[in-house]
Amino acid sequence: MFSSLRLPLFGLFSYALASAALAADCASDQGHGAQVFANECALCHSVTKGMTGMMGPNLAGVVGRKSGSLAGFNYSQAMRNKDIDWQAENIAQLIAQPQAFVPGTYMPYMGLASADDRQAIVCYLKEQQ
Ligand code: HEC
Repeated sequence: MFSSLRLPLFGLFSYALASAALAADCASDQGHGAQVFANECALCHSVTKGMTGMMGPNLAGVVGRKSGSLAGFNYSQAMRNKDIDWQAENIAQLIAQPQAFVPGTYMPYMGLASADDRQAIVCYLKEQQ
């Protein structure tokens, strides 16, 4: 009798747990995201507003920005065509496997294996407005 209810309820419950975990992780980050960003991304990306001239697009304010939309940056056709907003989950998927998430992207990055590190970077980017 409850079988039809179980799946959606479970889905909702998992979602609530995941959201709570996300908030908690960001609050307890303690600079981990900044550290991972410095090691993995800062070679090609700046988070200083308005700074140009790096290999990758400036990431100040990237959370919520449309993909491939920073004026003046020469994106790949693949990134221009992706047509998504950079919400947390999308950024996490991009940096897990850039070529899988945006086939044909110019981002020459192999991917970040640790889910904790990916999460930490997303938290860090949320603060870079
Ligand atoms: C070796 C250089 C390089 C590294 C390292 C790198 N990126 Fe990139 N990134 C790029 C380039 C180039 C692009 C533009 C890709 C395109 O046009 O297809 C890009 C695009 C992006 C975008 C899309 C931005 C937009 O305006 O649409 C995000 C988000 C991003 N990178 C995040 C990261 C994060 C987070 C890291 C670290 C885990 C990282 N990148 C590491 C070079 C790099």
